[in-house]
Amino acid sequence: MTNPMSEKKIVVIGATGQIGSELVVELRKKHGDQQVVAVSSRSVPKGELANGPHETVDATDRDALKSLFERHCPDTVYHLAGLLSATGEKDPARAWAVNIGSLTNVLDLSRDLGVRQVFWPSSIAAFGPTTPRDNTPQNTVLAPTTMYGVTKVTGELLCQYYWVKYGLDVRSLRYPGLISYKTPPGGGTTDYAVAVYFEAIRNGNYDFFVGPDTVLPMMYMPDAIRATIELMEAPAEKIKVRTSYNLTAMSFSAEELAKTVADHVSGFSCSYSPDFRQQIADSWPRSIDDSAARKDWGWKHEYDLERMTAEMIKNIK
Ligand SMILES: NC(=O)c1ccc[n+]([C@@H]2O[C@H](COP(=O)([O-])OP(=O)(O)OC[C@H]3O[C@@H](n4cnc5c(N)ncnc54)[C@H](O)[C@@H]3O)[C@@H](O)[C@H]2O)c1
Repeated sequence: MTNPMSEKKIVVIGATGQIGSELVVELRKKHGDQQVVAVSSRSVPKGELANGPHETVDATDRDALKSLFERHCPDTVYHLAGLLSATGEKDPARAWAVNIGSLTNVLDLSRDLGVRQVFWPSSIAAFGPTTPRDNTPQNTVLAPTTMYGVTKVTGELLCQYYWVKYGLDVRSLRYPGLISYKTPPGGGTTDYAVAVYFEAIRNGNYDFFVGPDTVLPMMYMPDAIRATIELMEAPAEKIKVRTSYNLTAMSFSAEELAKTVADHVSGFSCSYSPDFRQQIADSWPRSIDDSAARKDWGWKHEYDLERMTAEMIKNIK
């Protein structure tokens, strides 16, 4: 039987990053290797990513992106390129230029060149210190104090605007901190929740860059990839939020994470040396209410801290 989805042409921008490198593989499993174009700014895709079409394009360069869209005629674009929170705070002007410059290019070209659907990720960084930090509601104060957060709020409003004004089917998730072992994280505030696993296995110890009581919402990458694809495959009438959906799986403190790692790696020890990222973490929610995603399009996470830790340790070893 022919799969009607198999003719879909998909472009993934930011394909070599922590999320893109796993999303491309899943999309190619579903739609075929040749249907998914992996795009990155510098690094040439290696390994599984090189099994299908791949290109090197700077998404802030509108002419280069236009030429890419004209050559591949995508009906769906996943736009993941961007600077993350910690990297963005070191160079806020560049964070704005890359995150907003590339997004406006993608939205304009999608509208003008017949792209049917766009995915763009927001983040828990869209919230700020004046937002309720526990069980943060879908609709609440969006007043972030990082440039990364400023670009996420702006991006959410742009996504909604292109839907309302032009009917472009843009969908978005506010990802929590994402934990994975295949590709190193790209300079975010939740990177400690990945690094601890690698350092525990490599050296038996880890020095957290946040304090033990720091609690943030998190998710294991397979859940995040599934959420992304399920959101994009949901019938349009089910998508009631056109800014970005709250999304979560679990919340834990750095100390709880360390204890769970110690249960799996005998002799593991850790210390805490908070740096500038502590202030960013303190401005973000501790836990998220994602009931709108669960109700509207059936979101359900599968991994909690224990199950994720067992898989992380097994896979890294
Ligand atoms: N990883 C997380 O925990 C997390 C959480 C919330 C939101 N997000 C969002 O998800 C998206 C992807 O995150 P990630 O963790 O995979 O990031 P990453 O830093 O690991 O990867 C970013 C990718 O974007 C590409 N890129 C950067 N600038 C580019 C440009 N000008 N043109 C083309 N490509 C460019 C890089 O080559 C890389 O492939 C970002 O928008 C990020 O804000 C990530």
